[in-house]
Amino acid sequence: MAKPRKIKIFDTTLRDGEQSPGATLSHQEKIIIAKHLEKMNVDIIEAGFPIASEDDFKAVRDISKEIKKSEVAGLARVVEKDIDRLAKALEPAKKPRIHVVLATSPIHREFKLKKSPKEIIQMGVAGVKYASQFCKNIEFSPEDASRTETAFLYEVLEKTIEAGATTVNIPDTVGYAQPAEFGNLISGIIENVPNIEQATISVHCHNDLGLAVSNSLEAVRHGAGQVECAVNGIGERAGNAALEELAMALKTRSSYYSAETNLNLSEIYRVSQMVSSFTGLLVQRNKAVVGENAFAHESGIHQHGVLCKREAYEIMDPKMIGKESELVLGKHSGKHAVKSVLKEMGYGLKENQVEEITSRIKALADKQKRVFREDIVAIANDVTDQMREEDKRIVLEEVKIFTGNRVQPEAEVSLKIDGKQVVGKAKGVGPVDASAKAIASVISEKVSLKEYNLKAITGGTDALANVVIKVKNSRGKEFLAEAINEDVIMASVEAIINGYNKALFKEGKPK
Ligand code: KIV
Ligand code: ZN
Repeated sequence: MAKPRKIKIFDTTLRDGEQSPGATLSHQEKIIIAKHLEKMNVDIIEAGFPIASEDDFKAVRDISKEIKKSEVAGLARVVEKDIDRLAKALEPAKKPRIHVVLATSPIHREFKLKKSPKEIIQMGVAGVKYASQFCKNIEFSPEDASRTETAFLYEVLEKTIEAGATTVNIPDTVGYAQPAEFGNLISGIIENVPNIEQATISVHCHNDLGLAVSNSLEAVRHGAGQVECAVNGIGERAGNAALEELAMALKTRSSYYSAETNLNLSEIYRVSQMVSSFTGLLVQRNKAVVGENAFAHESGIHQHGVLCKREAYEIMDPKMIGKESELVLGKHSGKHAVKSVLKEMGYGLKENQVEEITSRIKALADKQKRVFREDIVAIANDVTDQMREEDKRIVLEEVKIFTGNRVQPEAEVSLKIDGKQVVGKAKGVGPVDASAKAIASVISEKVSLKEYNLKAITGGTDALANVVIKVKNSRGKEFLAEAINEDVIMASVEAIINGYNKALFKEGKPK
């Protein structure tokens, strides 16, 4: 089998990515991202467009100072003032790259630049020659290449390579190309540009039709040696090809593409999260590779399959990108998944406890769709901490609450104490206080409530409430008790009764 070709990864998160509507990065954030991209072994980091703003200039300059392993690139139009500014910003770079761009398609030539094809070639050649006095690593991009007449594109590429371009980048600027068509464009360039072997072919695909990654991969299949991309696929309009998707496609299907990258894949998830939190551009939940659901299995059949053999439902190991697989427990989850999650959390459970926990998780999932780790812990604690029914002296029958903004809250609690029905009533400062007082009013043994803690386990008004209390019995012994319920009052009442049962068990339970 032929040795896989090395595909260079040119990351433009800090240039095209930062052009995303709604994204802004501070100077410090850009430096942090650049350092992480270097740690990820990105071959080229495009750090900004220095002529565009003072901030971009400083970003390219300071990233050039910091980055030693990756090449640092900046963007310039093929005009001297742009190239001078970029060259200045790149001065501290150990491995600088000048990236010059000039639109070549008829629509750009006629309406934006108002230049003839001949003038475009002259401008491109002059720009590349001018740039090469500053550094020999020059990338030339014929903007809107995919909508440029192919014969003209071949000529532009030939002349700019002759002038010194070492990489020729083929942008699908408006995300118009289709995969097979774009692949053929790359083959056409290889066949028709006589000096093409003197340069690396790069591609820069936008995602307007959702094809940026497919087009880039098709270009690789047809001989491109560099792909331009951005973390989480951010960039102008619908964005650029997503770095993480390209990286994982080339890793997972390396033999299909006969290609590989130098990337340190285990940084992918961390960098994705970082870019999302710095730019404020959230990663869509079902986004390939880095979305929250990318490795989450909810259906019981899938969960069981993954537990038996991960590859049954996962083509990539989430650990590879620095992320653990997440089994989301929901109403479709089976007891295998519940047991495995709890085992991982350190619970050793009896079969009947697993069954009870599973059915409570399903009941909760019916109400709140997803059950989070914290919910599971709370339910498991509740189930495992339960006293045997026959050991409970106090059993709750019913709670009634009367409350409102113009009445003092009042509770009526019906209990069975040692098998005898009793009803307690009390008023309080709030419904929980009233319930606690109503319970205390019918229990003759002295038990004092020392602490009461309430927390919502997961977000939303339908979240589980977790109440933990501390009670002290007449011998001075303290007991912790807890309960969870979707209803705050019920969680409080159940926790208090659990506490009373623990506090009164040893002393009062008839032998
Ligand atoms: O989309 C585009 O054409 C670009 C060029 C500067 C490569 O971003
Ligand atoms: Zn672009």
